[in-house]
Amino acid sequence: MMTVKQIYELAVSLGIKNDLRGINVVNRKLKRAKEKFEELKTSERLDFDIESMKNPYADTRILTSGLNKQVKRAMVGIDIDTSEVLLANELSKKKPIDLIISHHPVGVGLAGLGEVVDLQIELLHKYGVPINIAEDITKLRMSEVSRGVNASNHNKVVDSAKLLGFELMCTHTIADNMVAKFLSDLIKKNEKKLEIVKDLMKLLKEIPEYREASKIKVGPKLFVGSEDRYLGRIAVTEITGGTSASKDSYEKIANAGIGTVLGMHMSEEHRKYAEKAHLNVIIAGHMSSDSIGMNLFCDELAKKGIEIIPCSGFIRHSRNKITK
Ligand SMILES: [Fe+2]
Ligand SMILES: [Fe+2]
Repeated sequence: MMTVKQIYELAVSLGIKNDLRGINVVNRKLKRAKEKFEELKTSERLDFDIESMKNPYADTRILTSGLNKQVKRAMVGIDIDTSEVLLANELSKKKPIDLIISHHPVGVGLAGLGEVVDLQIELLHKYGVPINIAEDITKLRMSEVSRGVNASNHNKVVDSAKLLGFELMCTHTIADNMVAKFLSDLIKKNEKKLEIVKDLMKLLKEIPEYREASKIKVGPKLFVGSEDRYLGRIAVTEITGGTSASKDSYEKIANAGIGTVLGMHMSEEHRKYAEKAHLNVIIAGHMSSDSIGMNLFCDELAKKGIEIIPCSGFIRHSRNKITK
């Protein structure tokens, strides 16, 4: 059993631990947020996002107020809407659900989505794009994303959870960091076996969540390139970082020496830019990739005795060793 607050703190620490940018970069960013706060006048501090000094992921937040509520059972989904809250209410009649966790951000977490895109600056740099170019194209993307989510009805589901007395949390980038690290480590471990596109497709299809997704025709797919082309250097650039990268990033990473981009999802317009840049693009799958991240997070909750009720496209697969 854990409290809502303990679950949130664990989520943030797992996000930092698995951040592809490395812990030093993340800590420097947190330090800068603190300095920014200290420089503000008291009147200006009201608008400052206090959480940003210890949580670098604006899309991972507790959205209700029962921080000390003990959690024995959590309903976890990729998207939580009012329909899932109603579902939780029905299920609670048999056995209580103490917390609802959404992967995709809602409430203040959704409004902060543009902020986490800044992760892509150091991520693109890690794959060889000069930091100033990475910063320029990512900053533009951040403002695009922020404006894009600005008109949403951010608190709709939060209001529903409050009306029915549920605790609600969203864990977006922390889980995306976990799947990005998982895939990046898997690629590193199998480096010698990975020569052509087909080799990576085969490796991905061995992962349980992707195997499950393949059964409903949404397994890993090749969006650009062909199976017999060389992979070249593989970049895990579109698994974490809030949302899809800047369209200009493809040309930049191709010039930086990348041959293949592994992503979760890709728009048709982005695809055309990637094709023009001579890249291979493997799209592992959206719900399935998000499920891997949420599984790695939920495995940590399960270790503390929390029962997980998967819903809303979440393909639950535990990697915990059965000890009983
Ligand atoms: Fe995700
Ligand atoms: Fe997603």
